[in-house]
Amino acid sequence: MVQFDFTGKVVLVTGASRGIGKATAKMFAQADASVIVHYNKNKELAQAVLDDLTGDNHTLFAANLSNPDEVQNLVDFVAQKYGRIDVLVNNAGVFEEFDVLDLDYESWQKTWHKTIGTNLTGVANLSFLVAKLMKDKGGFRIVNVSSRGAFRGEPDAPAYGASKAGLNSLGQSMARAFAKLKIYVFTVAPGFVDTDMAASAMIGDRAEDIRTQSPLNRISDPDEIAQTICFLASEGHDYMTGCIVDINGASYLRT
Ligand SMILES: NC(=O)c1ccc[n+]([C@@H]2O[C@H](COP(=O)([O-])OP(=O)(O)OC[C@H]3O[C@@H](n4cnc5c(N)ncnc54)[C@H](OP(=O)(O)O)[C@@H]3O)[C@@H](O)[C@H]2O)c1
Repeated sequence: MVQFDFTGKVVLVTGASRGIGKATAKMFAQADASVIVHYNKNKELAQAVLDDLTGDNHTLFAANLSNPDEVQNLVDFVAQKYGRIDVLVNNAGVFEEFDVLDLDYESWQKTWHKTIGTNLTGVANLSFLVAKLMKDKGGFRIVNVSSRGAFRGEPDAPAYGASKAGLNSLGQSMARAFAKLKIYVFTVAPGFVDTDMAASAMIGDRAEDIRTQSPLNRISDPDEIAQTICFLASEGHDYMTGCIVDINGASYLRT
């Protein structure tokens, strides 16, 4: 494992109650960051993550990111407690699969609004508010967690695919808009990762099919995604800003 050093840095990890966010929060804490463990509903899980973090000066905060007022509350809380955010990891997300043409119009609207509201609008609102907070305080870094699905297509989750393609574009635009403020924006695009989100797909024949999509014959571990996030959040490779890094075990290659 690569060793990182985030001494004195304040890191906000959204969706840190489980999965990739949990692994990422742990890795930042091991590298001496102060971590805000954000979650939506699973307070017990989030509290357990917080209790397990190395060091102190970490904190917990709940916000439904599809609600703009709750996003504002989150940023106000962090601004008041820490006065700054050095790294924002936009990790929280939802994934809803269905047989598209079996859906009624109302359900289609519901899943569309929930997915875009959380995965794209929530990230846009949070990134906007954190950039406003930090613009006079010196640079910070954003790492967005996108998905292979943005490139490969998500036939059973089109809102998800669209939200992640939008997120890729948002990250590119923000990288260009904020570069003069030394605010750097990176995106990772994982394939399947061993978390709750992937659990419903990793069953029976489908699990085997998914594993064999990669020539490594496996899906990713959350720690592997956290490693890349921590690398991107480190200093020394600022010219990478605006990039989208695939972490998919060569399961989907693009040129
Ligand atoms: N797992 C994969 O195969 C995979 C592949 C590619 C990309 N990704 C991306 O990686 C990120 C993390 O995925 P994961 O697999 O770790 O997911 P996960 O285990 O399902 O965890 C999702 C996290 O997001 C939070 N969250 C969900 N809805 C929210 C909302 N409306 N407002 C605020 N927070 C909300 C959850 O909080 P609560 O626990 O409180 O509900 C939880 O902390 C997502 O952006 C996902 O799209 C995952």
